[in-house]
Amino acid sequence: MDAFVINGGRPLRGRVRINGSKNAALPLMASALLTDDPITLRDVPDLADIRNMTRLLAELGCETAELDDPGLPDRPALELRTRHEIESHARYDLVRTMRASICVLGPLLARRGSARVSMPGGCAIGPRPVDLHLKGLEALGARITLDGGDIIATAPGGRLTGAPVFMGGAFGSTVLGTANIMSAASLARGTTIIEAAACEPEIVDLACLLGKMGAHIEGAGSPRIIVHGVERLTGADHTIIPDRIEAGTYMCAAAATQGDITITNCPLDALMAVTTTLHAIGVVVEPLEPLQGGIDPMRAAARITCPGPLTPVEITTQPHPGYPTDLQAQLMALLCRAGGISVITEKIFPDRFLHVPELARMGAQLYRRGSTVIVHGVDSLSGAPVMASDLRASASLVIAALAATGTTTINRVYHLDRGYERMEHRLAAMGASIERVAEEELAATA
Ligand code: EPZ
Repeated sequence: MDAFVINGGRPLRGRVRINGSKNAALPLMASALLTDDPITLRDVPDLADIRNMTRLLAELGCETAELDDPGLPDRPALELRTRHEIESHARYDLVRTMRASICVLGPLLARRGSARVSMPGGCAIGPRPVDLHLKGLEALGARITLDGGDIIATAPGGRLTGAPVFMGGAFGSTVLGTANIMSAASLARGTTIIEAAACEPEIVDLACLLGKMGAHIEGAGSPRIIVHGVERLTGADHTIIPDRIEAGTYMCAAAATQGDITITNCPLDALMAVTTTLHAIGVVVEPLEPLQGGIDPMRAAARITCPGPLTPVEITTQPHPGYPTDLQAQLMALLCRAGGISVITEKIFPDRFLHVPELARMGAQLYRRGSTVIVHGVDSLSGAPVMASDLRASASLVIAALAATGTTTINRVYHLDRGYERMEHRLAAMGASIERVAEEELAATA
């Protein structure tokens, strides 16, 4: 397993381009199961989760090929095409490595009339139930049983029937649950109303692709989505929206190191809660092109600086458009050095605090009370050996290490490779002292 060795205290300076969104790409890839025509996706991030989804889709009869993309010479496009529908079982050994595999359930069921998908387990950020996915599909007429840890779903007569579906849960809406129902409803007989739908930009992007494939979807991005089912869907060509979480991560890293960076292909329009919070802390996020001047606010350019001291804030994570849970850990790393007391409450995944004890090893003053963490700002953090645990907690440790004095070793960085492409290269290009080493190498030199 690899580790990062980071020598902190160097301000980030330079430019970074944001890649296509991991959390948009996964359900977009699953959409290829809805047709036997080819789907072409552009600006696909080169990530472990994408490779896992490619393997899962191949088992389900959907083959992928890389194509040159003249518009993005260094980033091949991905063509996906379902060649056969023999196997409709998403097996446990694939699903357990990536919980998001659940997003194949809706497309498989809608297109083939049956599906067998391993029930995803929990993960480092807490239990990951899928009860709302299953209730939603049952509302569309599916018969759902559980057998040996697998979800077995069938559509009577081979086709689902549109219906009103309430998708709200104790923690608000469900992103992948909304994706599953919206995809399944696209091929159902009749109209589906999805009430309490997730409003995340990734849902809007999925609706955009489904629309290009011939689906009739209204209201994506709002809590009520209406889907008029069609007989079949066709191929399409789609460029994935930029990754708002990756962009927010680099914003926090620039601020934590008192740096000065320019972020391009930046989805500012999907980050208003984040940029508003950063502004309150004292971070300057300056759009570099007039957003009104015809520039796509989802593919903008922005300069990030942090000229003065950090001001403490209170934030609570919420479903979009609220402050995103996927940027909670990164903000906490930034706030460790804000003068005063900040309060962070995690409403989506109340146990999403595996970064807290690791940040404390670096000198952070953090006090957890249930789903809230009180952050007492300190003058500086100190480098230390720490352990990555999940994707966003790992990013939090990188930010803290970049800001800390001394050397930090972050073990098990494979967690980062799931959602951040070439992170060490991109940070080094902005002046960070960071290198990837094999953990065995570290042990040998210890
Ligand atoms: C998506 O996960 C993202 N993953 C997550 O990002 C993100 O944290 C999450 O949405 C919330 O924004 C992908 O898009 C691949 P949910 P998802 O269903 O859809 C509860 C990352 O770091 N819930 O919106 O699986 C659930 O327990 C990842 O990139 C139910 O109760 O999350 C949670 O408390 C981590 N029943 C809340 O809803 C259900 O059936 C939100 O979960 C489904 C969810």
